[in-house]
Amino acid sequence: MAVSKLALVASMMACMMITSSNGESTLTCDQVTVWLLPCIPYGIFGGNVTSLCCEGVYSLNAAYKSGEDRRGACQCIKDRAALIPGMDYNHVNEVPGRCGTKCPFKVYPSTNCSAVK
Ligand SMILES: *[C@@H]1O[C@H](CO)[C@@H](O)[C@H](O)[C@H]1NC(C)=O
Ligand SMILES: *[C@@H]1O[C@H](CO)[C@@H](O)[C@H](O)[C@H]1NC(C)=O
Repeated sequence: MAVSKLALVASMMACMMITSSNGESTLTCDQVTVWLLPCIPYGIFGGNVTSLCCEGVYSLNAAYKSGEDRRGACQCIKDRAALIPGMDYNHVNEVPGRCGTKCPFKVYPSTNCSAVK
């Protein structure tokens, strides 16, 4: 069961790599997705975050230049997370803390990303 779930996640990731482009802002959703892909297993299963996941989180944090970037990343993470079966939002929001850093917003299905500063 865990194996088929992983396979599903893998195909999901492949899907996410090729879909969507977001022209306007400097920080694209594709870039955010690439950075956070290694965090997906933690988002679903919990356990330990990988160093690759944390590196992605650090890269993302370093890339925020404006509220626009943060709102875009918020919307991106929210939209992508909603596509992944079994995504646990408590785990998702634990990731930055696990990496010893912070995220400027929390992601839940109800998060209003337009309100992110
Ligand atoms: C998490 O990492 C710690 C320390 O490396 C290890 O002892 C523990 O078993 C790991 N937990 C899981 C769920 O992999
Ligand atoms: C989301 O936040 C924006 C900015 O604060 C606000 O204008 C909008 O009404 C909010 N939308 C919802 C659904 O709460």
